[in-house]
Amino acid sequence: MPNYNLNINGKMRSVSVDEDTPLLWVLRDELNLVGTKFGCGIAQCGACTVHIDGVATRSCQMQVSILDDVKITTIEGLSNDGKHPVQEAWKEIDVPQCGYCQAGQIMTATAFLNENKNPSEEEIRQAMHGNICRCASYNRIEKAVKVAAKKMS
Ligand code: FES
Ligand code: FES
Repeated sequence: MPNYNLNINGKMRSVSVDEDTPLLWVLRDELNLVGTKFGCGIAQCGACTVHIDGVATRSCQMQVSILDDVKITTIEGLSNDGKHPVQEAWKEIDVPQCGYCQAGQIMTATAFLNENKNPSEEEIRQAMHGNICRCASYNRIEKAVKVAAKKMS
């Protein structure tokens, strides 16, 4: 199997996997970074969202072989201590229910807020609409993104 060197959460990690292995599998099965979740596997739910060069990306659809020269950030790498402003806002609003979708939600929200420091409600809804929550925590997610925006501005 080919070897791939990946920059994940600021560290170089080496994995030997088939070239068409999705990043999500590499994260969870090879590197034990299990904060990123498997939901649909077909880019429809957002549970597997990570940042690639700062852009929210669905890791279930990213082949490992094209990730040589990029920076990958997972929920484990968002902050050292779980105190990123978006994580703090999530705690303040007590967003999660079962929690399964929430790492993906936080990664999507963070990438969005890095680009838009003062979003409108409509922009927040647009940014978050592709991340599915089976527990329907959408109202709390929206509130938390607003709180996070204040913390980050
Ligand atoms: S698991 Fe990747 S979008 Fe659903
Ligand atoms: S909190 Fe349960 S799926 Fe979102």
